[in-house]
Parts: sequence; C-alpha cells; structure tokens
Amino acid sequence: MNNLTESFQSHFGRPAGVFSAAPGRLEILGNHTDYNQGFVLSCAVEQKTSFAVAKAEGKVCRIINCKFTGQTEFSLDELDSPVAGEWLNYLKGVYYELRKRGIEPGAVDVVMDSSVPLSAGMSSSAALEVGFCFALKQLYGIELEKTDWARVGQGVENDYLGVSTGLLDQFSSIYGQQDSLIMSDFRTDEVIKNVPVPHGYVFIVANSMEKHDLVDSEYNVRRRDCESAAARLGRVYTGVKALRDVSMQQLEQAKAELTRLEYLRAKHIIGENERVIAGDKLLAAGDVEGFGRLLFESHESSRVNFENSTQRLDYLIELAKSIPGCIGARLSGGGFGGISIHLVREDAAEEYSSRLGAAFKSQTGEQPQIIKCGIGGGAQAVDL
Ligand code: GLA
Repeated sequence: MNNLTESFQSHFGRPAGVFSAAPGRLEILGNHTDYNQGFVLSCAVEQKTSFAVAKAEGKVCRIINCKFTGQTEFSLDELDSPVAGEWLNYLKGVYYELRKRGIEPGAVDVVMDSSVPLSAGMSSSAALEVGFCFALKQLYGIELEKTDWARVGQGVENDYLGVSTGLLDQFSSIYGQQDSLIMSDFRTDEVIKNVPVPHGYVFIVANSMEKHDLVDSEYNVRRRDCESAAARLGRVYTGVKALRDVSMQQLEQAKAELTRLEYLRAKHIIGENERVIAGDKLLAAGDVEGFGRLLFESHESSRVNFENSTQRLDYLIELAKSIPGCIGARLSGGGFGGISIHLVREDAAEEYSSRLGAAFKSQTGEQPQIIKCGIGGGAQAVDL
C-alpha cells in the first residue's frame, strides 16, 4: 500500500484519498457450473490488484499502471468504445456499467499495480474490475450490495467486452475468506458456507503457459451448448430451468433428445455439480484422498466431455498422478490453456513443485510458472 500511495503523491503532487485491493481467485471444483446456476468451491488468492486513487477535476481519468511505463488516460465522455484486449477497458467498463445503473461517479487519478498473473485463469480481470469498483465505491460513497458490485464487474465482461462469463470470478474476489474455501450457489448467488482447507495441504498452481484468453476462446460456444441442452431437457422434464436441475440419470434417459455435443457438455456440468456436493461432504469427513480423486475426475471430464483442456494441461495432470505428494489436480477456470491446480501435501510441496517444473520443461521446452498459492481474503477499500 505504501509504495502505491507514495507513487501517487510523487506523480500527481497530492495525496491519494482511497486505497483498494481485490484478489484473483482459484476455482477449486465446479467447472463452468456458475452460469448453469450450479455450485462452486472457490477461494480468493493472496495475489491482488491494488489501487491508490483520488478524485480528479473534469472528465479525464489519468492512470499510472506500474506494470507499464507512462501514464494513460480516458475520458468519461468516451466510454462507448471498448478496444479488444486493452486492460484499460476493464476500468472504462466499470464506469459504463455504473452509468447503466444510473450511477455517475466523477473522474479519478489512479496509480495501480497487480500481482495476479495475467491471462492465466486466476481472474486478473475480475481483480481489476472489482478493485476499481471498490475504489470508486469508497471514494464516491456509492451504496450497492456486495453481490451487485460483483454483477457490475460481470457486466463489464458480458456487455462491455462481449464474453458471456458467469459471476464466479468477481463473486470470489469479493466474498473470498482468508484461509478458507467458499462454497457458492449460483442460483441464489450466495455463499452457502466456508469450507476449511484440510490441515497439512496446500494448493500449487502450475501455469501451462498457454495464454488463456476468454475473449478469443470457445467460452461463449460452450455456454450456448449448455443453455440449449438445458432448454431441450426442459421440454422432457418439468421444472428444468438450468442444467443444475437435471440429474445424471435423467440426462442418460433423455440422451436421444440431445445433440452429441449438448449431451457431452451437460454431462460435464451435471458431474461437476455432483462433485462439488460430494467434495464438500468428503472434506467435512476428513477424506482428503477422496476429495483429491474428485479433482482428477473433474479434469478427466473437462478433457473428454467439455473439451476445454489442452495437451499441456493434460500433461500437467498426468505428471500430478506420477509425482509423489499430489492428492488431486485439474485445470481451473475457463480452460483452453491457463492454469492447473494441484492439491499437495505441504511437506512435499517444494520437491513436488521442482519435479513438476523440470518434467514440464523437458517435455515442452518451457518453464512453467509454479506458485504455492495462499488463500487470501476478499476485496477491501479504505480511506487514507
Ligand atoms: C471463467 C468465467 C467464470 C466461470 C469459469 C469456469 O473464469 O469467468 O464465470 O464460468 O470460467 O468455471
């Protein structure tokens, strides 16, 4: 915090008024279930995007992003034109979404920095949106429920940038609990409970180093397939509003009503919902090995049914099965590249990470980014 506030003072010649920070997230179990009104186990990570901000005169927001050199800016009069792939869009998009809700905060000067790996599947974009939302909330006294702030961030992705993502990323960034997983229900958009991580285990993140970019990915196609599967199943069974409402047995019985792809996508989602419910019970019963098996099963279902894995991700999961210390591993987040998560015995974590890194490098020629991931708390904002 001190570095950012000092840079703010030296760059803008006055003190910042508010500091805010929002974390990235890990999807632990429950892949693509959020927009199917299902369940997810997730957590916030210690890596964050932080902002020092102050109100500015006029309509121009001036931004120093410590990741890049120089100052960049945008005008509140020119919010209607996102440019694909530009990080600045995530900030402009927040103003755009607030304006849609009749909320018009004034301009800001910003110094920001981030420790969330970019385009990896740890929700660097949600951290950017939520951190900036919280900065504006604190600075301009904007009163919205926490879940509505998550929806503002989601709106940036859905409406401003055209990716039909669910609420998971922004929601986890806001509701994350220090040292605990959260289990969320995305029918009611609520955290159902906190789920402690079993003692003596850690999550290791291994990046496949394939840029995971939802805008360019098949994410929207997957979502459409899930929704059309749910619509067809709704004609077979009464009361089906989303894949969340369908059991595996019902899916099998109605298989002939679905296209092959609809069937496979639905199988993944229904299986994931079952695994989240089962995983919570296994953790409560202290069966960490059983929970780990569900992580492996989840990955297998991604690979075979949802087809959102890649060769590199599959390789990381194969390695996880052969290097001692790992209880379970899977791709995490949207897929199509990005990260895998590995639940590893804490006493084996260091050795595991180095063996995983070495094996991946010798196969692919590239050193993977490997992070022992601490579980952080949710987004915060304070007056300075
Ligand atoms: C991305 C999306 C989320 C969620 C995950 C997959 O992170 O932003 O809404 O759908 O993929 O679970």
